[in-house]
Amino acid sequence: MALVDRDLLLAVVAEARRAPSARNQQPARWRLRDDVIELLEDPARRLPACDPSGRDHRLALGAAWEGTRLALSSRGLRFDDEVLAAVPDEQGVVACGRVVDGGMKDLLVDVVMRRATWRGNFLAVQAHVLGDVAADLEPLGAVLVQNPAIIEDAARVIDDASAANLLRPSAIEELVGWLRLARDHPGWDRDGLNADMLDLSPFSARLQSLALRRGPLSQLHRARLAHLVVGEAEQTRSASALIAVLAQTDEIDIVVGARFYRCWLTVTSAGLHVCPMSVLTADEALGAQFSRALGLPAGWKLLHLWRVGRAPRVVPLSPRLPPEELIT
Ligand SMILES: Cc1cc2nc3c(=O)[nH]c(=O)nc-3n(C[C@H](O)[C@H](O)[C@H](O)COP(=O)(O)O)c2cc1C
Repeated sequence: MALVDRDLLLAVVAEARRAPSARNQQPARWRLRDDVIELLEDPARRLPACDPSGRDHRLALGAAWEGTRLALSSRGLRFDDEVLAAVPDEQGVVACGRVVDGGMKDLLVDVVMRRATWRGNFLAVQAHVLGDVAADLEPLGAVLVQNPAIIEDAARVIDDASAANLLRPSAIEELVGWLRLARDHPGWDRDGLNADMLDLSPFSARLQSLALRRGPLSQLHRARLAHLVVGEAEQTRSASALIAVLAQTDEIDIVVGARFYRCWLTVTSAGLHVCPMSVLTADEALGAQFSRALGLPAGWKLLHLWRVGRAPRVVPLSPRLPPEELIT
């Protein structure tokens, strides 16, 4: 008798889809063949302009696979014969595993439905809480950075780096495609970044949509105005620390993505929130600058920088596509 049927897969996907993706574009799809679960990419959900190497896309797929593993664990199930690929195969499959009995509940399962990105200002965090988080992150290949000079550097460069990124017309159009600035946008409750997730008031959301609209403004002015509305310098300065997520130089992105998600859930279980700052590591020169400042151990490279702190209020969960649409 089959261990996994469609109803079980739907329940597993309902939890696994909570894994993060860069623009909440949710690139992961699931397929069941006998008791083998396959994870596929939806290539239409790549971000060619802002993530040309596909790194963040594959990290999101790795996080979704880890989410699948976590959801199975709470049902006493686990993967056997797992195969993880560096890039999707010709059918789009990036991971597969046979589901077998015998999983032990992973403790991080308990925070999957609490993890959320916080993009506003942070409240301070007590030193002992940060110390515990640093110790929990170390075995996961992530480093807590409390050096105020490095936090200030991140705050100083983040808005210019984002504005420079948006100077490419393809990048600004791609961003616009994933923004849902008004509640009547058909994707508001489904995917992408809505104004609530960005912590934008209706006025700021309106201003942002004016800034991003194609029209009389030059590309430079669109990018600058867009970042006046969603600037991140102040939020970065309010962070108690940064988290540097590292990757071994020979690790594949799917594996790193799984770790990326475990790091984030680990921070959530300490009652803290993070906001990834992709722009600081997507740019080669900036990434190299922060790598040097961090003095990384040999064999490791800087993958991502996150700001971390305590959110001033409960952060609502962001939307996801219904599980039925995520199963192929
Ligand atoms: C690889 C990756 C990169 C991300 N980069 C950013 C970023 O640069 N800025 C940001 O505000 N959020 C970033 N995020 C967070 C996503 O936007 C967020 O996970 C997604 O919108 C879903 O929301 P949730 O995390 O609250 O569930 C990133 C997430 C991932 C997985």
